[in-house]
Amino acid sequence: MNNSFIQINNISKHFVDVKAVDDVSFEIKEGEFFSLLGPSGCGKTTLLRLLAGFEYPTSGNLLIDGTDITALPPDKRPTNMVFQNYAIFPHLNVEKNIKFGLRKLGLSNDEIDKRVKDILTLVKLKGYEERFSNQLSGGQRQRVALARALVRQPKVLLLDEPLGALDKKLRDEMQLELRTLQKNIGITFIFVTHDQQEAISMSDRVAVMNDGKIQQLSAPNELYKNPENIFVSDFIGETNFLKAETNSSDGEFINVSIEELGEFKIKNNLNIPANSSDVVCTVRPESMMIDKEKSDWDICLDAKICQTSYLGEMTRFYVEAKGIDKIITVSSQYFNNQSFDNNECFISISLEDISILNKKKPVL
Ligand SMILES: Nc1ncnc2c1ncn2[C@@H]1O[C@H](COP(=O)(O)OP(=O)(O)O)[C@@H](O)[C@H]1O
Ligand SMILES: [Mg+2]
Repeated sequence: MNNSFIQINNISKHFVDVKAVDDVSFEIKEGEFFSLLGPSGCGKTTLLRLLAGFEYPTSGNLLIDGTDITALPPDKRPTNMVFQNYAIFPHLNVEKNIKFGLRKLGLSNDEIDKRVKDILTLVKLKGYEERFSNQLSGGQRQRVALARALVRQPKVLLLDEPLGALDKKLRDEMQLELRTLQKNIGITFIFVTHDQQEAISMSDRVAVMNDGKIQQLSAPNELYKNPENIFVSDFIGETNFLKAETNSSDGEFINVSIEELGEFKIKNNLNIPANSSDVVCTVRPESMMIDKEKSDWDICLDAKICQTSYLGEMTRFYVEAKGIDKIITVSSQYFNNQSFDNNECFISISLEDISILNKKKPVL
């Protein structure tokens, strides 16, 4: 496998006064399901359009499979794009939509027929050849758009929030299908989404973007377990931020004063400096324990429940805990809002579930 299949080198794209993409560099592996994840306006679509050739960078260069594509027009690039609003022709049936433009590639009729047949099977649209757009569901229309992009056999498929217009259940199904499809055909997918659950569940690796920059590029479980800055920690899943200051450090561990709770030895994965107040601690709602009894965990706090929300598979508790300034969120699969007398409870935290981050956001 080619680990540097796609090379994005110091790419910037400025629109008048907006730095939509701001000096971004990273590589994508051949055959990877790679996602660009971030809030609306962070530059995801612009980066994808730069790869497709619908925009040209203000500076930097782009390589795919060793070829510099920076100045090439879209039709000379080994890429194809699928859009959110499944741009398929309403006056053509499914088969003709997929065939559209194939002849221009210089393919024979036999080759075209074979490719269309194969692709219809792949996207599970066999039997739908004669249907028009208004006779298809949202999911089926999106499959046609996918087939139309794939039938050209691009080396890289670019997908801009392709599932955004589907309802939740269909989206979940399509996520699984898309993932299976990608593994079967083995080409590189670059998938844009603002939905962290979607990115995490589908991707081999995810680049989290904000303000035109990559905030972190990791495998999904690393993003969740070891976020490298406040933005990522907050954007991926839910978390609690605790006030903190660092004291002395022995390299691997650092002594951290957390809220009014005292000083604790925390693993220092990110080489946070000693004696700094420019730091914050985080702990996920599901890694704390709420209970009626005291525990022997590293930290166990007297607490009072202010509010609860029942989420089916778990209940989320909003609690005031002794020694912590802000209300913290704790989730439990075991207890619900009827479990506690007078809303009194204990909150337990294990030190290994506390992460420490720099307040200033490091970026790639
Ligand atoms: N053609 C354009 N002209 C001016 N500004 C643009 C243009 N395209 C995008 N932008 C701006 O660039 C930023 C990033 O946009 P975009 O890449 O569409 O974000 P995302 O896809 O992450 O929502 C936004 O501030 C957006 O308003
Ligand atoms: Mg977008």
